[in-house]
Amino acid sequence: MTTPTVTTTLPDAVIDAVRGARRVLVLSGAGMSVESGVPTFRDAQSGLWEQFDPSQLATIEAFQMDPPFVWAWYAWRMQLVRGVDPNAGHVALAELAGLRDVTISTQNVDDLHERAGSSVAAHLHGSLFDPRCSECDTPYEGEIELPQEPIERLEPPTCPQCEGDVRPGVVWFGEMLPDEAVETTESAVDSLETGDVVLVIGTSGLVYPAAGYPAMARAEGATVIEINPHESEVSDMCHHVVRGPAAEVLPQLVAALG
Ligand code: OAD
Repeated sequence: MTTPTVTTTLPDAVIDAVRGARRVLVLSGAGMSVESGVPTFRDAQSGLWEQFDPSQLATIEAFQMDPPFVWAWYAWRMQLVRGVDPNAGHVALAELAGLRDVTISTQNVDDLHERAGSSVAAHLHGSLFDPRCSECDTPYEGEIELPQEPIERLEPPTCPQCEGDVRPGVVWFGEMLPDEAVETTESAVDSLETGDVVLVIGTSGLVYPAAGYPAMARAEGATVIEINPHESEVSDMCHHVVRGPAAEVLPQLVAALG
């Protein structure tokens, strides 16, 4: 495998690759939403897992042990996401769908791609906005109280079917990913052809199966392009790495295609 070209500005080779592509598969992670004001999980200082312990907040065991503690944190994140807007990167990807056949598979549990006007083929790690019963799995469609400030405890809603505690609709450590999201993403990867492009945006490449998709796409013959201000676990297997923020690089890319 050849080493990637690494640039801090958008190179012509990347513009040409997207211009020549029939299909563009977007694999996005938490870095996609940074310029909207949503913190990533692992960035030093600001990353959520730098401040909070995943084992206390992102496992079914933690939820079963103390539902109000875990629910309060997710209710706060729902409120945080509700209060921010899609950034210029999300908007650029929605515009790209008018120029190319775009499929978006995201690890993000926010709804910022959708609110920018994109249709998202797969939410691999679920959604903050699809709560369901922790006992009977019935989707919860009732009112949800969202705290204006981070608070330590908040009683989760009660399932109207079985009176179980309602849990966030995100995938926790140790849980299976939604089958449909995985199948949709893997079939999008399988159907890539030489000349198609994969944009790997704002992910550390540490969490599987999502971290494996760039290599699978490369094996299908696609040109793999990373957009991330920092090196990630998948940088080395990309053809091109653009070291810049998604909200700057993506609008430049889409403008250059027009
Ligand atoms: P991480 O927090 O692991 O990584 C975020 C990535 O975004 C890093 O590589 C940053 O360099 C990059 N980044 C930071 N600012 C950026 C910007 N402005 N533009 C583009 N990239 C930027 O987030 P994920 O890889 O998405 O899982 O994390 C994967 C999963 O781990 C999450 O979905 C979550 C977490 O545990 C679940 O909740 C199941």
